[in-house]
Amino acid sequence: MMKLEKLKIFKGTVIHSLKIDHVEILPNSLLGVNGNNGKIEFLKSNINDFEGELLSLEKDYQIDKNQDIVDLGNKFIIPGFIDTHAHAPQYHNAGTGTDLPLLKWLEKYTFPVESRFKDLEFAKNVYSKVVDRMLKNGTTTVCYYATLHLPASKLLADIVGQRGQRAFIGKVCMDRHSPDHYVESTADSIKDTREFVDTILAAGNPLVQPIVTPRFAPSCTDELMTQLGQLAQEKNTMIQSHLSENLDEVAWVKSLYPTLPSYTHVYKHFNLLNNKTIMAHAIHLSDSEISLIKQCEAGISHCPTSNFTLSSGCLDTRKILEAGVKLGLGTDVSGGFHPSILYVIKDAIKSSNHHHFNNAQYKPLSFEEAFYLATVGGSQVCGLQDTIGNFLVGKEFDAQIIDPYVANGPFDVFEADSLKDIFQKFIFLGDDRNVSDVYVKGNKIDL
Ligand code: GUN
Ligand code: FE
Repeated sequence: MMKLEKLKIFKGTVIHSLKIDHVEILPNSLLGVNGNNGKIEFLKSNINDFEGELLSLEKDYQIDKNQDIVDLGNKFIIPGFIDTHAHAPQYHNAGTGTDLPLLKWLEKYTFPVESRFKDLEFAKNVYSKVVDRMLKNGTTTVCYYATLHLPASKLLADIVGQRGQRAFIGKVCMDRHSPDHYVESTADSIKDTREFVDTILAAGNPLVQPIVTPRFAPSCTDELMTQLGQLAQEKNTMIQSHLSENLDEVAWVKSLYPTLPSYTHVYKHFNLLNNKTIMAHAIHLSDSEISLIKQCEAGISHCPTSNFTLSSGCLDTRKILEAGVKLGLGTDVSGGFHPSILYVIKDAIKSSNHHHFNNAQYKPLSFEEAFYLATVGGSQVCGLQDTIGNFLVGKEFDAQIIDPYVANGPFDVFEADSLKDIFQKFIFLGDDRNVSDVYVKGNKIDL
């Protein structure tokens, strides 16, 4: 048998999740990545005798100890974060326009900035910065909304591809109830979405996939929704939209579809709710809507930072998890002002604690569970549960190397801190300063 030559081995502490309520903290590990396909070859932990272990690995692998082994020292390695819902153009506004609820916020801040993406120079500047910012924060996979413009949406896909991030990218569709300066005809929306999907698929980068993106039910005509459902089926693509984020929005959808049983049923009615669908927010759902989502095997992107900022509400994550619905985390930049999933993890915990305030029986999300949602949960929502999310052998290596001791870093480690304490400090106090390296499919990203 030929020995595998291209191999990178990480030596040190590996942290990931296999189950929702438990984080595996694996000191003294060797994690091998196949340099040809970016997949994980082996993960061996709690090793006492590294020399002996390497000798035994040399039976299968050609290892150059000086070149192929990355000694993590007191850094540790975790899976890359998965942001299951972010609006790339809105990054321009992140940290501003935080004073209005959803529908007024869309009119006053969001549609105006998105309409500027007809200008490709403007788009290039914002899109380069948002992709860089996400990567710096250890986010290796993002489900991006672009804008309704075809050229700028293609540009976003190009930039993501060049930077080496993994992403789903959607040209936004909206042919009604939108301002005159930011709306498209039904025919253009379909034609441009088709061209967008075909272009991304033809580019042949397996890391960058198209996603069919009706903005939300109020901004798409029945004809557009019908055709988008057909297109997604024909091309076998993922689908993303917004669902039940805000009570005024829910009432609006009820007035638009008085004969359908619920907001969730509207997407179902147009064949837009299936096992490849990601619905952002999904806060104000009835039990029958949660059942419908489960039955259709769709996933939910929980965006608590956005939900707090736009005063949308607090998703009952426990109820969603107990219903067996796939759940991941999303920044929802710029409804959510912060581009980091670390920030969203903390807001997910706080949002869940809110349900505990007046209900002693309620089991709020633990930090271990929130970390799982940010990694494995996100992979399930994206249909990538066999590809990323943790370091099981055979998955692709999407990872971040975390340095808890970085100079001038955001927190301090004390002698009594266990590895678990240090990891938890990173989750609660850490930020992009602690992210020293990022890998996507085994490739090191230039940060
Ligand atoms: N619903 C429709 N469009 C949007 C958007 O851009 N952001 C959020 N948070 N909700 C939406
Ligand atoms: Fe959103």
